[in-house]
Amino acid sequence: MSFKNKVAIVTGAGQGIGFEICSQLAKKGAHVILNDLDETLAKQAAKKISDNQHANCIAMAGDSGDIHFIQQMVEAGVSQFGHLDIAIANAGITLFGDFFTYPAESFFNVMRVNLGGSFFLAQAAANQMKKQEDGGSVLLTSSVTGHQAHKDLAAYGMSKAALEMLAKNLVIELSKYKININTVAPGATLTKRTLDDPEYSKIWSQITPMGRPATVTDIANTALFLVSEKAKHITGQSIIVDGGWTSISPSPF
Ligand SMILES: NC(=O)c1ccc[n+]([C@@H]2O[C@H](COP(=O)([O-])OP(=O)(O)OC[C@H]3O[C@@H](n4cnc5c(N)ncnc54)[C@H](O)[C@@H]3O)[C@@H](O)[C@H]2O)c1
Repeated sequence: MSFKNKVAIVTGAGQGIGFEICSQLAKKGAHVILNDLDETLAKQAAKKISDNQHANCIAMAGDSGDIHFIQQMVEAGVSQFGHLDIAIANAGITLFGDFFTYPAESFFNVMRVNLGGSFFLAQAAANQMKKQEDGGSVLLTSSVTGHQAHKDLAAYGMSKAALEMLAKNLVIELSKYKININTVAPGATLTKRTLDDPEYSKIWSQITPMGRPATVTDIANTALFLVSEKAKHITGQSIIVDGGWTSISPSPF
């Protein structure tokens, strides 16, 4: 898969899955706008990728849930590199909490970042791609929790399920402009946050049919495929990357 001279925006990419997606895209020739809310993290991540891959990776620190900032990211991509080909809404916040006392503030934060950030990035990117008349790819980031109930994750799970419907719905609007839109749905994935917890890997290795949690590379490999030329005829779909976890239900045996 080559991404030579493709221009991509990836949100929430200072670390974790988004960082790995940016690294792989840059390694394969893409110019990347790397976003993170944390300015230091965004700058360090973009520098690391630019140095290691000899690539054009530009940091854009800001809130991926802010509609005006989303528009600025698209404009930055176009002014720096002339066009935009790929938009990946990766930023997502996970706010756990008991349903009976779940605070309205947490609910609206989850919806603003996970849903608003993805919806309006898709909108801004698709408007730019439509103008270019050369197609494009949008990828949203769902989760296994959009498919399977998880304790204390009602708002998050609901936001992830909604993203899968958004991808299906936008097939109507985007296909005539040769823009495909899909979602990747990671299962439990080892990131810095979860690597710090020695129990996390142990528990998920026991309950995952493939015997281990996902790595960021597992998720990035799938993300790159979905935004590559090889996946141009795939649209409105979600690929679950969870080592089989959502395929099984608790067994009596
Ligand atoms: N890690 C997992 O196990 C897992 C499983 C399923 C789905 N996901 C989804 O994958 C995506 C990436 O997850 P991750 O685990 O790599 O995340 P992470 O927590 O490792 O990193 C996310 C980055 O996003 C940034 N961020 C948070 N809010 C932001 C905002 N409003 N604007 C810009 N940046 C923001 C954070 O600063 C952080 O650097 C998320 O959408 C998440 O819901 C992750």
